[in-house]
Parts: sequence; structure tokens; C-alpha cells
Amino acid sequence: MNSKKPIQLLRISKWFDEKGEKLRVLEDVSFTVHPGEFVCIVGSSGGGKSTLLRILAGIIEPSEGRIINMPTELGFVFQNFALFPWLTVHENIAFGLTMADLDKKQIETRVREEVKRIGLQGFERSHPKELSGGMKQRVGIARALAIQPQVLLLDEPLSALDEITAKNLRTDILFIWQQTHKSIVMVTHLVEEAVQLADTIVVMSSRPGRVHKIIKNTLPRPRNTRTKEFFKLVDEIEEQL
Ligand SMILES: Nc1ncnc2c1ncn2[C@@H]1O[C@H](COP(=O)(O)OP(=O)(O)OP(=O)(O)O)[C@@H](O)[C@H]1O
Ligand SMILES: [Mg+2]
Repeated sequence: MNSKKPIQLLRISKWFDEKGEKLRVLEDVSFTVHPGEFVCIVGSSGGGKSTLLRILAGIIEPSEGRIINMPTELGFVFQNFALFPWLTVHENIAFGLTMADLDKKQIETRVREEVKRIGLQGFERSHPKELSGGMKQRVGIARALAIQPQVLLLDEPLSALDEITAKNLRTDILFIWQQTHKSIVMVTHLVEEAVQLADTIVVMSSRPGRVHKIIKNTLPRPRNTRTKEFFKLVDEIEEQL
């Protein structure tokens, strides 16, 4: 369903009512996510990136504009993990599946697959509070993938983690993308992260959030993050922010 069609954001604007004032958060945001594409959204803090991702996910409505071909099966990964503290790792990952039309055995198989994929073996019976930040986000990613979404939306998934943990998980996200061919839209404030991961980088300006520039990243994969070309692209984008 829709998996072969590009997702199109058409002139999305969003404003909130703040004590009778119109707080303009997004203005005229348009871009396309092609099937299997890795898109990163970069921009400064408070620029409306999370709001945009929530609109894409259908969690909130845009004030103006529309989205075409957004699949209903989507996975969402949060910056602060947003796990259910009273559930085990297994139950957290299975959460979205309990609402799907699957029997117990199918749910078990799915959870086992995702636990293996993301390296959580042995932690199935743990609760989130017993896990490190990196492991918590692994659960967040496994939960999002368990429903087998066509598109994965990630809102600064690595920014609450130390750099070594983030680096490992970044490599894993890339591997999962290459393995599953899902479309990914990921928000980040790290330009280097966007240049390492994305096919397309949407550079946003702030207050209200607008698309400043859309950059096609043609650096060959696997990407070497130490080359002159890599740093050149990072510098070019940082100049825009
Ligand atoms: N439900 C809401 N009601 C009122 N204002 C809101 C609401 N949600 C977001 N905002 C405002 O919209 C603006 C953009 O917020 P948003 O969280 O989308 O930015 P962001 O780019 O994700 O920032 P950060 O990089 O810090 O995560 C902020 O000024 C925020 O206060
Ligand atoms: Mg945000």
C-alpha cells in the first residue's frame, strides 16, 4: 500500500494559539520522501522539527497544507525513548503488536526477530530502569520496527546518548535501513550525522520553520566520515544554519 509512491509534504504550515497570539511554528514546508530514501531534517532548536515529524506521523494536524501517500504503517522513535516503565523489554516491543491482528505465536516471533536484530538478547525480561540509555533506545527502535512499518520516523534518536553509544547505534540504524529498505525521516541537529546517513538533507531555518535548502547527498556509500568531500559538505550545510 503506497509503498512505491513518494510521500509528499505540500506547503505544510502550523501555528499554535499562545494566549490569543498566533505562534507560527512552520511555514510552507514542502519536500518529498522517495521510497527507500533516507531523509534527514536539520535545523536549530525550537525550529519546529519535532512538530513537523508529528504532523507527518498524523499525531497532530497541520494548520495548512497536506501530505500525500503517507503510509498508515509507520514507526516512531522518540528522543527521550518514551518506553513504558511498567512493562518489560519484551512487552514494550510487543506493545504495538497487541493491537494488530496477530496471534500470540506470531507476536513472539516478531519480538524475537527484533530483539535479535537490535542486539537485546538476554534483556527481554528487564524493565527500562535497569537499562542504559543506549539499550533503552534499542528498545525504542525495536518497538518501532516490530510493527513492520513502511516508514520510520526518528526524532533526534541519538541526542540523549553519549557519543560512543550514539556512534554504535548510528551504524545500526544505517544497517537496518540497508537491510529493510524502509523510508526513513530522521530529525537531527548534528550536521555530520545527517551527512553520514542521509540521501537527502532538508535544511530548515527557524521561527517560523521553513525549508531553507534541500541538499542531495551523493557521497558514495559506505561513507568515510574523514574525507575532504565529507567535511566540505558538512561545512557547506553548517554555513546555511
Ligand atoms: N502543542 C504546542 N502548543 C504550543 N506551542 C507549541 C506546541 N508544540 C510546539 N510548540 C512550539 O513550537 C515551537 C517549535 O517546537 P518544536 O518542538 O517543534 O521544535 P524543534 O525544532 O523540535 O526543537 P528542538 O530542536 O529543541 O527539539 C516551539 O516554540 C514550541 O514551544
Ligand atoms: Mg524537537
